[in-house]
Amino acid sequence: MRLTRISFTDIGKLIQRYSRYQQSCLSIEQFTTFGKTAKPVESFQFGRYELPVRLAHIIREIDLLPKNLLKMPSVELVRSWYVQSFSELVEFQDEDETEEVTSRFTQNLMCIKQRHDNVVETMAQGIMELRQTEGDDAFHPSIQYFLDRFYMNRISIRMLITQHLLLFGQDARSCKSNFVGCFDPNCHVTSVVEDAVNNGSYLCEQVYYTSPSVEVTEVNACDPKKPVQIAYIPGHLYHMLFELLKNAMRAVVEQHASSGDLPPLKVLITKGKQDLTVKISDQGGGIPKSRIDQVFEYHYTSAPEPLKTGGTAPMAGYGYGLPLSRLYAKYFDGDLELYSMEGYGTDAVIWLKALSEEASEVLPLYNRRTSKNYEEVRLAAQYCRDWSSSKFYGHGHKFLSTFHGKMRV
Ligand SMILES: Nc1ncnc2c1ncn2[C@@H]1O[C@H](COP(=O)(O)OP(=O)(O)OP(=O)(O)O)[C@@H](O)[C@H]1O
Ligand SMILES: [Mg+2]
Repeated sequence: MRLTRISFTDIGKLIQRYSRYQQSCLSIEQFTTFGKTAKPVESFQFGRYELPVRLAHIIREIDLLPKNLLKMPSVELVRSWYVQSFSELVEFQDEDETEEVTSRFTQNLMCIKQRHDNVVETMAQGIMELRQTEGDDAFHPSIQYFLDRFYMNRISIRMLITQHLLLFGQDARSCKSNFVGCFDPNCHVTSVVEDAVNNGSYLCEQVYYTSPSVEVTEVNACDPKKPVQIAYIPGHLYHMLFELLKNAMRAVVEQHASSGDLPPLKVLITKGKQDLTVKISDQGGGIPKSRIDQVFEYHYTSAPEPLKTGGTAPMAGYGYGLPLSRLYAKYFDGDLELYSMEGYGTDAVIWLKALSEEASEVLPLYNRRTSKNYEEVRLAAQYCRDWSSSKFYGHGHKFLSTFHGKMRV
């Protein structure tokens, strides 16, 4: 681990200071315009300020976690990565804006990205550790609230780092020519759907020896002769579609296991003036209305244990697919919801902003109200329901070894 020149106390003070600065939420339009014209030094000027601000906001929020969770070794480890990365980045504040410093900054970002590779699984491991020591009651709704904000912050930090590296780092060569960093200004949605369908069907066949067929329809309401395209990060779109398709395929195969006659999945892609919408409809038996909120909870799963397929990723079993996909949708001001008819099937809908200038980052903000919000979530939970009863929670064993690959984009 690289030592920084700033003392431990000073780091604490700097984290406080940076957490008071506003984060700059950028739109896809701004990212792509900047990416087409910016020089490395301009990206350095932006990143050396914006990244520590985003890191500081979330470090302050980690500190609001219940003390018993904060003490878990994995959570302490994750926190230490964030503090280390923050310390390394704030050191660039007073540096000259030379080529040498800019390239050192780029090198540093590569290390930081690697350091944070396993944040999702390590944080999940921390929650497992808590549940092992304190039981299911320990998974309090305030943890759900925190994880949504924490992972959203991570998506945003990772995106900024990836964007810088793809534009100006060693990865620049691997960037596709028509892309601007990780953005495809003309992302053809049906192609991404087809990729996700192919990989989802492959996995499904590995696990169940069969998979439902998928019918894809696209409707461009604004310009019927043109394919549906959007400026977006194809990796994010793929992630959401793949998770939703896996869920739909699993539901269909399990629901119709006895007949063997699998009703097809239907994917409808539409583009209007404001929204690009993708709806995935299955006849997999649906979800009772009373369980719809629960399926978006981290670690909630109805799979008996991660259904592993040879050397590849499992089909289900972690309870991270839906909550993380919804975060990806919300990141650029979209959304993801499920509509279900119990006994019949489910419609999963993703909304994205059709116009890149309207697709702005939505980031969790740390301020004086944040600790009150946590208190309110805690109090609301006491009055609402017993959150730990009648739930299925994910499987601790083999978690780290099989979890890899979730949320790498
Ligand atoms: N289309 C669907 N039809 C029926 N049930 C569904 C559907 N989608 C999700 N579910 C229910 O919601 C639960 C949570 O889904 P989620 O994708 O978050 O986790 P998972 O599929 O269990 O595991 P993984 O994190 O590996 O995806 C599923 O276990 C399943 O019970
Ligand atoms: Mg899933």
